[in-house]
Amino acid sequence: MIQTDDMEFSPRMISPENTSDDNDIEITLRPQTLHEYIGQDKVKENLAIYIKATKLRGEPLDHVLLYGPPGLGKTTLSAIIAHELGVNLRVTTGPAIEKPGDLVSLLTSLSDNDVLFIDEIHRLSRAVEEILYPALEDRVIDIIIGKGPSARSIRMDLKPFTLIGATTRAGQLSAPLRDRFGVIQRLELYSKEQLTDIVRRSAMILDIPCTADGAGEIASRSRGTPRIANRLLKRVRDFADVMGNGEINKDIASMALTRLEIDGLGLDSLDRRMLEMIIKGYGGGPVGLETLASAIGEEAVTIEDVCEPYLMQLGFLGRTPRGRCATKLAYEHLGFSFKSEE
Ligand code: ADE
Repeated sequence: MIQTDDMEFSPRMISPENTSDDNDIEITLRPQTLHEYIGQDKVKENLAIYIKATKLRGEPLDHVLLYGPPGLGKTTLSAIIAHELGVNLRVTTGPAIEKPGDLVSLLTSLSDNDVLFIDEIHRLSRAVEEILYPALEDRVIDIIIGKGPSARSIRMDLKPFTLIGATTRAGQLSAPLRDRFGVIQRLELYSKEQLTDIVRRSAMILDIPCTADGAGEIASRSRGTPRIANRLLKRVRDFADVMGNGEINKDIASMALTRLEIDGLGLDSLDRRMLEMIIKGYGGGPVGLETLASAIGEEAVTIEDVCEPYLMQLGFLGRTPRGRCATKLAYEHLGFSFKSEE
């Protein structure tokens, strides 16, 4: 059983953020088992061992922190963990837990060994985090009753449970919270081959005829992110239905994605605006993140979480203590001539 308390919305076509449209498709396409889950091989291998060991011992799984760029399958993986453990999953997000009381009611409603998934765990308030520490460490919560000098604290035992925290920014987690996770796993951007397999699997589930190179074309333009790949698959299907014979092949995929202003490497207008600003506005960099963000009218967190991981994977962007720099590859991709400083 999965319960969701909070969802996010973002309109950018290749934003990896979750949209309500994605929720339906993600639920349909979500793999149920580690075996079905494509990619993140090291994470899967480790989790398989931890899950097996805890099941052998009849204990709850140790608390797990999953971190990495958005859209890589942190929620999916937590649903798989709960499924493989044979327990219920409760899903919520850091900002949805506004008051300590919200967390207390969540924790006290869990059954034995249930999994509580908190997305964006770096956004928990300090007061809520304080409730979480003893809950994670000693499976107890301290509740304050009354106010002023007559206030009393009572301690309540919790049932054994596993917290899975997910974050795009592990660096923003407080040290005491980070230290309470026994398992910490980083999710990586997916390779083109892995994304091709994901697109082919999704096309099969959705009954969309799709050739191998059609899936490959969508994969190459999905910036390493399954959520984007699945979203683009749906959009390309529209073009294939209306302008073709319903089958997704390389030509239809390429035409559709170009019309969506996603270039051959998956860069969209925001990525290009950002790189062009570094190149034309700041001589290739270095330029500080905040300066760059205000120059292109975008939030620094969006640049950091959404644009930069992929641009760095492509080798288009360098991050130095003095700021961001565009590399020779970025100049070439955008059609600028590169002048090295030497
Ligand atoms: N759909 C989204 N992410 C997936 C993954 N990693 N494996 C299989 N299907 C997926």
